[in-house]
Amino acid sequence: MYKQLTNFVQDIYQTNEFIPLHAPTFSGNEKAYVCNAIESTYVSSVGKYVTDFEQHIELYTGTAKAVATVNGSAALHTALFMAGVTAGDLVITQALTFVATCNALYHMGAKPVFVDVSRTSLGLCPKATEDYLTDFVQMNSQGECIHKSTGQRIRAVMPMHTFGHPVELDELLAVCRRWNLQLIEDAAESLGSYYKGQHTGTIGEYGAVSFNGNKIITTGGGGMVLCKSLDDGVHTKYVTTTAKVPHPYEFYHDEPGFNYRMPNLNAALGCAQMEVLPKYLEQKRQLALQYQEFFNCSDFQFVEEPEYAQSNYWLNAVICPDKTSRDELLQTTNEAGVMTRPIWQLMHRLPMFESALRGDLSVSEWLEGHLINLPSSPIDLAG
Ligand SMILES: Cc1ncc(COP(=O)(O)O)c(C=O)c1O
Repeated sequence: MYKQLTNFVQDIYQTNEFIPLHAPTFSGNEKAYVCNAIESTYVSSVGKYVTDFEQHIELYTGTAKAVATVNGSAALHTALFMAGVTAGDLVITQALTFVATCNALYHMGAKPVFVDVSRTSLGLCPKATEDYLTDFVQMNSQGECIHKSTGQRIRAVMPMHTFGHPVELDELLAVCRRWNLQLIEDAAESLGSYYKGQHTGTIGEYGAVSFNGNKIITTGGGGMVLCKSLDDGVHTKYVTTTAKVPHPYEFYHDEPGFNYRMPNLNAALGCAQMEVLPKYLEQKRQLALQYQEFFNCSDFQFVEEPEYAQSNYWLNAVICPDKTSRDELLQTTNEAGVMTRPIWQLMHRLPMFESALRGDLSVSEWLEGHLINLPSSPIDLAG
């Protein structure tokens, strides 16, 4: 199986050279737009491409307002800030995520509470979240959600759409409404993924997208805050651009802001990448179908999109029958130059989050021992 998989991936990408997990692809107007930005001299924090890119994302996702940032981590930080998370607060999230989700909380002075993921979505499980809240939390007279053992306020729930597969958002929204919590979506990996026809990152109060080099489209480095309300969006833009009160020459800032704006150079790349996004999504879907067929009738279970969703299949994944086969698969493929990768170390195993509050994490821990990511760069399979 391991050798067959190696050959299969090498055939798909038509090379025996190193095959990365996800490489950026520039097949459209990237060079032209970046050169145009340079020629205009607007390479930094203002310029037409920033506005254009934000508008592209608004049109594509249907969000009320999109605010471009330097990266996805900054977008997450901004989203938490705008949602009113403050130092000392707790935020429910998943232990199965990339560290940036929890770093954003850390830098707010807030702490994660780890709740298990669902086997179907690989993202935050609504039932596990409800069960945790029922067991450990009580509402105070102001309608705030207070952790019984620490007395800290739980302010928000922050699911992550793992590898582009949308979490069960209706159910999570219902939990948030019952407990008076904000929903913030870490949609860093899920541009092009839809939950029941609605784009991920637009269902919670705020969503954060990443355009890092390994994502479905890239701006080199970049991110976007998706804001559910236009007013909040306008304020988000203000806060990410140093909160400067508009004036022809005076410099006056009326609240603590961030300098998180995306440079025009990066936004130029983003505008060109948006033009090829539909093609990449189709190519990635075809690739996922090929993997699915390959693993059919084997002990390995390919991770398919949940039935309620349309995933971007950012990173393809397969669940191995046991840890031994997972380790053998990792070793054989990587030795042959076909990059495969285990899931991230779960967040509660990292030194800065090991003392975080947590519920039962048995699904996350089971997935940690069984799941592998497969090469997933977009490729034209038709030739
Ligand atoms: C789940 C998740 N959250 C946040 C981020 C942060 O994005 P960035 O690398 O653009 O800061 C990433 C990706 O890198 C991610 O995968």
